[in-house]
Amino acid sequence: MRTSWQELTHEIESCRKCRLCETRTTVVPGEGDPNASLMLIGEGPGRDEDLQGRPFVGASGKLLDNIIHALGMERTEVYIANVVKCRPPLNRNPEPDEAAACLDFLRKQFVLVRPRVIALLGKVALRYVLNDETPITKARGVWTERKGVWFMPTYHPSALLRDPSKKRDAWEDFKQIKQKLDELGEKDAGNDG
Ligand code: URA
Repeated sequence: MRTSWQELTHEIESCRKCRLCETRTTVVPGEGDPNASLMLIGEGPGRDEDLQGRPFVGASGKLLDNIIHALGMERTEVYIANVVKCRPPLNRNPEPDEAAACLDFLRKQFVLVRPRVIALLGKVALRYVLNDETPITKARGVWTERKGVWFMPTYHPSALLRDPSKKRDAWEDFKQIKQKLDELGEKDAGNDG
């Protein structure tokens, strides 16, 4: 049977499946429109997210908000989640066993949200969601389609803060995302009529 949002949130918030539960302050399950067409997936909570229990609320979150606005959308219209729901100490990358312990939650979030397009923010999301080790510099900007869902890898917002020269490429990726959402929306409207 399909897990409900309520059950899933409870499962995530009470999880003790990996060592990250020992150092977290707050679990960060994810947030946004439960029926969003666009899902954005980051790596894992940072310090601000760990304190507030919400994804992408720190400096990289501000940049992500700007990108979402520049696309003519609101944060409340998309769904934002991470590969791991608890902060890795000192913001290190999640270890493979930590990601493996947490990925079932992301799978359940996919099933509930049923997004049409997924933005993979950075190499950690690319690695664990698509099982793809291609460097993000090569993988970005290229669509992968699986079972009718379109995945676009792009730079993580924190990479854009570290190296603003990457912003131009990231913006091209997000424009492709917007275009895909528009195309799919038109197709759906056509099918309805
Ligand atoms: N970086 C991420 O990958 N996710 C967050 O939620 C915040 C920063």
